[in-house]
Amino acid sequence: MTTSTSAEPTRRDFLYVATGAVAAVGAVATAWPFISQMNPDASTVAAGAPIDVDLAPVAEGQAIKVFWRGKPIYIMNRSKKEVEEARAVPLSQLPDPQTDQSRVKEGHDQWLVVIGICTHLGCIPIAHQGDYDGFFCPCHGSQYDTSGRIRRGPAPANLPVPPYAFLTDTKIKIG
Ligand code: FES
Repeated sequence: MTTSTSAEPTRRDFLYVATGAVAAVGAVATAWPFISQMNPDASTVAAGAPIDVDLAPVAEGQAIKVFWRGKPIYIMNRSKKEVEEARAVPLSQLPDPQTDQSRVKEGHDQWLVVIGICTHLGCIPIAHQGDYDGFFCPCHGSQYDTSGRIRRGPAPANLPVPPYAFLTDTKIKIG
């Protein structure tokens, strides 16, 4: 009898504590989205928010470099000749076979958008340099073509294409 009486409050106390803990967790979980929306963190924005880029000032044959998530992004307005060169290469000649069409947006074929970090050891290649008129990496000599595909040198893969979309004919959102 004594044992039973003393055990009951203990069990009840535990249940109260457990219920309180669940309620507290629920309150935090509910509050988080509101906190998150009300207080956008500046460092998070700088580190990962999408960026809009106006393409209007980029003339045919020019390339610009912008930064997204701290990474250099090359945006190249390719000439008709550069697009044709990229598309004339047989895939069998490419170390990392990808069609040019798969690396650009349909209807905006002149625009190449790539992450400007060499896939060898991470140097920043130079645009419009090298034997393929695409990108040349000065660190160990990797050469990429006008589609950003690796053509020669130690780099094992093409320059990656970041996630992006055309908002208008002259504006893209990266990220
Ligand atoms: S880092 Fe570019 S070739 Fe080595």
